Order: sequence, then C-alpha cells, then structure tokens
Amino acid sequence: MCKSAITKGFSAPLKGEITVPPDKSVSHRSLIIGSLTKGKIRISNFLKSADCLATLEILRQLGCEINFLDENTLILNAKNAYITPKKDLYCGNSGTTMRLLTGLLATQNLECTLTGDISLSKRPMKRIIEPLTKMGASIKSNEGKAPLVIQQTKLNAIEYISPIASAQVKSALLLAGSQIPEKRTTVFEPHLSRNHSEKMLEFFGSNIQTFNKDKLFGSSISYTPLIPKDLTVIGDISSASFLMIAAAVIKNSDIILKGIGLNPTRTGIIDVMKAMNADIELLSKDKISNEEIGDIRIKYSPDLKGTTVEGAIIPRLIDEIPAIALLATQAEGKTVIKDAGDLKNKESDRIACVTRELRKFGANIEATDDGFIIEGKNAQKGLFEGNTEVECYHDHRIAMTGYIAGLISKNPCKINDFQWAETSFPGFLGIFEKLSRG
Ligand code: S3P
Repeated sequence: MCKSAITKGFSAPLKGEITVPPDKSVSHRSLIIGSLTKGKIRISNFLKSADCLATLEILRQLGCEINFLDENTLILNAKNAYITPKKDLYCGNSGTTMRLLTGLLATQNLECTLTGDISLSKRPMKRIIEPLTKMGASIKSNEGKAPLVIQQTKLNAIEYISPIASAQVKSALLLAGSQIPEKRTTVFEPHLSRNHSEKMLEFFGSNIQTFNKDKLFGSSISYTPLIPKDLTVIGDISSASFLMIAAAVIKNSDIILKGIGLNPTRTGIIDVMKAMNADIELLSKDKISNEEIGDIRIKYSPDLKGTTVEGAIIPRLIDEIPAIALLATQAEGKTVIKDAGDLKNKESDRIACVTRELRKFGANIEATDDGFIIEGKNAQKGLFEGNTEVECYHDHRIAMTGYIAGLISKNPCKINDFQWAETSFPGFLGIFEKLSRG
C-alpha cells in the first residue's frame, strides 16, 4: 500500500526521551546465526520490520519454528533446520537476507532459489557468488543478480581477500565457513566493516578469530557446534542517526536516545557529528549479548561546520551517509564525502538519488563518482523553502532523509511512498510526533 508522509513546515523542537528501535543487522543475524545452534532460544528486542520479517519467513520455510511472545520477543526453535523449502525464498528488499542466507544455504545440502523485489533484483550478487564458487558452491544467477539458484555441493575452506569492506560479503563467507569442519575459512577486508556476525558467533561459542595482517582485517572460522543461548538485540544506531541529525538541526531541540548499539564498527556517525560541532554527549555505556550499548543526549547545534568524510570511517557509517549529506547542508562551509562509491549499490543509487532529492529543497550538493561535495548553508539560497515532493526509490533511508529535510523547511512537503521507512524503522512517524510534542 502506497502512503505518503506530510511535513507541515518548520517543526516544533524535539524534546524528551526515546528508546531507539532494535537493530536491523543484529535482528537478521539473531535468526540466521541463532538457527545454526539447532536449539531453542529466546530473542528479545527483535526488529519487526519488513526486512527482518523477510528473513524470519524464510527461516520458517527452512523448518524453523518461530513464535512471537509479544511485539518484539520471539522464541526460535531451530531443531528441524534446514529442510528443502517447498517454494522460492523471497528476500523482499533485503540485501542482508539474500547475501547472508546464500552463504549459509550453500553449505546445507539442499536446493533452493532466492528471489527479491525490483530493487534487490538489480543489486550486485557477484561479490558473494565469486568467493562462494571458489569454495565449491554451485550458484546460478541472472548475470550476477537475483534470482540465485543454489544447488547441492560440498564446500571447502578458503582464504579470501575481499576487494571491498562489506559486512554482507564477510558474513556470507563466515557463515559458509562455519559449517566446514577442521579447515578454517579466512576473510580479509581492506577496512573493518560491521562485525556483528563475528560478535554473535562468538556469543554462541564459535571458534571465530579476528586479527590484523598486512594492513588488512581478517576473520577466520571453522565448524564448532554452537550453544543455544537467549539473546537481546541492541538499539539501531542507523535508525537513531535520523533522530540525532534531526535534533541537531531543529531549533531548540534536546533529546535523549536510550539503548543505542555502540559497536565501534557502527559509531562513525557520532565521530562525524562531533567533528561537525554537534552538541552530542554520551550519558552511559553497558554491554548486552556481546555488544556495546548506551544512552546519548543530543541538542540543537547552531554552529555546525563542514568536514571531510573518507577512508576507514566509511564502512562505519555507510548507511548514515544520506542523512549526513542533509546535515552538511545545515553546516557552515564545505563537506566532502569520498570513498563511498558502493552507495550506488544500495537499495537505490544513493549518490544520484540523495543529490536529486536534496536539490529539490535548494541544497547546494554535487554528486561525485564516490560521494558528494556539499556547500553548506551560506551557499544555499537561504532556508529550505519546502513546497516540494520527495521520491523514495524503494529506499527507506531516502524516505527518512526526505522527511527530515521537510521538518526544516518553511513550507509543507510531501514524501511519497513513505511506507518504505518500515523497511528498517517501523513507528518512525509516531516517534517524531511524540518528540515534537515534547
Ligand atoms: C549490512 C551491511 C552493509 C549495510 C547494510 C547492512 C549488514 O552493507 O549497508 O545496510 O547487515 O551486514 P554492505 O555489506 O553491502 O556494505
């Protein structure tokens, strides 16, 4: 069902406390890696979003019993995992579902086909097909894209140097490697991408190891039986970043965000906001299910300045870049974002789509081959006027970035197809309404 969101012109200040929604990456992994324990586990704070529900339905097709106790708590019983599915496994819009499950299913002695929606069917899958094929997998594709047809073969451990820092590639190979006895599979990447798979495999008792070698980041694994254990999902820093950035740019805002995952492979957004002069303070830190978590306070930040975002920090904030581009339009001076060419391969071509949509508001933003150049507020024709319509391109992060641009615009704006926000952030509008009532 298509639904649009409307912003009414300058938002009231955001005030109050919110527990941020559960983490999407960790929720996917809680089911996928949890199923490898072949036992019964309770998963608390699971994200019931469209993407994670795609993973959940597929695991049911593969023989897992999954029952919700309440909105965000479920029991996963993986005793019968994994049976040959009766029909295709539909991954919807979710790259994490398709790439991680391909790694896992390539080792399971069954035949299956993974399909996706129109956006996922355009995304590159060669990045996992090639290394998995080197391991001995048989994966047929539509010229490197979905649908992916997996056939029964026996896999061997390999050492693989990934040309890109991608947690989905790394996780696919580690999941495959986790099923191969004795010999270790090792994946190297040029920068450290999010390490939730490694942390969770370790949580369930895997023999995973992580190390540095020749300036590369390595992870290695072989089969060990995993021990079923109850798990709690951390809050999603990527969802929180929309609230953080909105509070920094909406006059007189002052909010506290609770339970945010603070895994250092995800906290690039905090480093960048601090470098841009945002008023952001860490209130407390804790650990839950082998992941760091904490509370953060963010206030309206009138003295934002431009910055350069490049290199090793990119994988630590890859999903936040659309919102960072918006933040940069409200800063003094130039912001340059580079080394982020993989943005073209996300749910939409985020370099083209962010540029196109922010320009509608009057932003001075230029697309480059691997990022953006954004001239800050002095180079714009004044405040965002609004009176515009944003398109989402099947991409939740474009939808939410457009909404925040609407909140700092003088006149109403319409964000079309806002249902896409549900991919990662169900309840987004309700949270903004609550915070703007104070
Ligand atoms: C994810 C990894 C990242 C990220 C995506 C979720 C994951 O993708 O952009 O939203 O859960 O592993 P890449 O691995 O393609 O960089």
